[in-house]
Amino acid sequence: MDRVWIEDIGQHVGKKVEIRGWLFNKRSSGKVKFLIIRDGTGFLQAVMVKGDVSEEVFERYGELSYEDAVVVFGTVKRENRAPGGYELLLEDIHIHAKALDSFPIPKVRPENIPDVGKLFRYRHLWIRSRKQWSILRIRDEVESAIHDFFAQRRFRRFDPPIFTPASVEGTTTLFPVPYFDEGEVYLTQSGQLYLEAGAMALGKVYSFGPTFRAEKSRTRRHLTEFWMVEPEVAWATLSDIMDLAEDLLVYIVERVLENRRMELEILNRDISRLEVIKKPFPRITYDEAASLLLEAKRKGTPIDFEYGKDFGSDEESLISHRYDRPVMITHYPRTIKPFYMKPDPKDPSKVLCVDVLAPEGYGEIIGGSQREDDYEALLRRIRQEGLPEEEYSWYLDLRKFGSVPHSGFGLGIERTVAWITGVSHVREVIPFARTPEKVRP
Ligand code: 4AD
Ligand code: MG
Repeated sequence: MDRVWIEDIGQHVGKKVEIRGWLFNKRSSGKVKFLIIRDGTGFLQAVMVKGDVSEEVFERYGELSYEDAVVVFGTVKRENRAPGGYELLLEDIHIHAKALDSFPIPKVRPENIPDVGKLFRYRHLWIRSRKQWSILRIRDEVESAIHDFFAQRRFRRFDPPIFTPASVEGTTTLFPVPYFDEGEVYLTQSGQLYLEAGAMALGKVYSFGPTFRAEKSRTRRHLTEFWMVEPEVAWATLSDIMDLAEDLLVYIVERVLENRRMELEILNRDISRLEVIKKPFPRITYDEAASLLLEAKRKGTPIDFEYGKDFGSDEESLISHRYDRPVMITHYPRTIKPFYMKPDPKDPSKVLCVDVLAPEGYGEIIGGSQREDDYEALLRRIRQEGLPEEEYSWYLDLRKFGSVPHSGFGLGIERTVAWITGVSHVREVIPFARTPEKVRP
């Protein structure tokens, strides 16, 4: 008899198999007992009919509680009415480990219970539910799609450090960490500065890792610890990396549609909203987006936007709701963007940057730019921002020794997965979310 994973059950139709997992759910209609078994790779309905199994096995139904670890034996049957399309005709069941307590997460639609705080207290158990399982599998697919995308294009993975002595994205969101005799260093906000060094050494690089921002913003889009993928390309201009960002997003969505359709259905995701994610994405400038917002404001939309300000989440939603695919906004005012962005030679009050806003109001999922490659201009910007010059001397070296145009971007994994899964809050799309008020479990 083969021991199989539920995911592969379709290859064993008509055969006797062993499955090791947990009791997810059970129900009885007198002579027929249904057990839902989960093994991590899937959920499977196992059926036993009185008379078809021994009395002893049939009676074991009564002993079973939620999340008992069980080993089941039976014959695989194709069954169109069963979720997943297969069923197990149960012959025997062993209880490997009884649950010691009653399971704290309701089995039916846990997401509908009003106390979300309780669900997050039991996050370590909540991830066993169908919806959370689906979200985490989609996250995994997004992550492998990203690696495959960059591997196919011969990018080299380049891992920047997490302990860093200087800021990338502004000094207000740094997390200080005591570091031996050095005093304080910070958890990285972005690997970008190191990736620029990497691009000059290896040409096309990307990183994929955790990044940290001490942001007090209690929004549906902010975590204090989140994962970012950051490509950086030597000789690339803003328009080159915009094409790259577009290709990456189209590829990610295609992969999820190809491999995680069942999970999207479990989440009741409107799949037609993903099927339209094709090239080309609309491209507009900050000025165009600003006129659109000012026009809406004139007509009475309650937003406090003023020309020259950054877009808040209300503004981003207003803009993105006009399109069915991600919208790329370029040329923001220099004053609201970080020091490393290159000013537009045609209008130096703007920088060569791009923010990509996801559809359906999910907000900014990508931020990128062409980098300042002129030594003097970069030094001036570092001084203007009042940044500690000595900490950036190595970064300035990249402009001393064969400086070339180069560009890159950062894509936030959680915001991207929230958009693709249709989940409203980013804290549900990472296994254990970190926010200002949450560091447990
Ligand atoms: O726009 P950001 O700040 O860009 C950078 O960090 C650049 N240095 C990246 C680069 O060019 N290599 O962040 C990039 C993305 C955002 O678009 C967003 O998706 C995500 O990271 N992000 C967050 N996600 C969750 N919680 C937060 N607090 C986030 N801050 C940024
Ligand atoms: Mg940004």
